[in-house]
Amino acid sequence: MDPEARIEAGPAPALALDVAAAQLGPLHPRDLASCLALDRLALGGLWSQAQWARELAEEARPGVGIWLEGRLVAMACGWLVVDELHITMVVVDPGHRRCGLGRWLLTALLDQGRQAGARHATLEVAAPNSAARGLYGGAGFLEAGRRRGYYRNGDDALVEWLRLAP
Ligand SMILES: CC(C)(COP(=O)(O)OP(=O)(O)OC[C@H]1O[C@@H](n2cnc3c(N)ncnc32)[C@H](O)[C@@H]1OP(=O)(O)O)[C@@H](O)C(=O)NCCC(=O)NCCS
Repeated sequence: MDPEARIEAGPAPALALDVAAAQLGPLHPRDLASCLALDRLALGGLWSQAQWARELAEEARPGVGIWLEGRLVAMACGWLVVDELHITMVVVDPGHRRCGLGRWLLTALLDQGRQAGARHATLEVAAPNSAARGLYGGAGFLEAGRRRGYYRNGDDALVEWLRLAP
């Protein structure tokens, strides 16, 4: 993927916050500090600096972000494996949730995967995570399986799957 390529994710949807300044675009290696900061703020630091550096550097790991007044407030990442986009992260700043940013991000990441040749998308989501399950279900993801006790806290993971039309 050309790191400077524009993401064809359609126009910004009507969002419930003032997003005149909201911008969606690909994540770059130069966004390392912003990604780390949002990861720490919203997820307690899921990935280390080295992991983030790798996510942002590798061509087969697409990522998209949304910036509001210059600050990264949402991001989504995935891995391209042959014809599959495996979604590894979708997160929105807690102060900007339920405004449509998650849906906008996910749509953009799926479009990016489709343009790179992915024919289906997969992900794992914690069974009790109703917000994320609602987001993925709304995008058309279907439950394909369950991994019992997959997460450190004992939660099951649901494996979800979506066919991507070419
Ligand atoms: C999941 C997450 C990314 C959703 O982002 P968001 O910007 O708040 O989502 P949106 O406003 O775009 O909402 C899209 C849909 O998601 C679902 N949703 C979002 N938040 C929800 C909530 N708190 N409860 C139930 N459903 C919710 C709804 O189906 C919603 O559609 P609707 O507004 O038409 O009802 C966000 O809650 C988040 O960052 N959570 C923490 C990280 C996480 O769990 N990521 C997923 C890991 S698999």
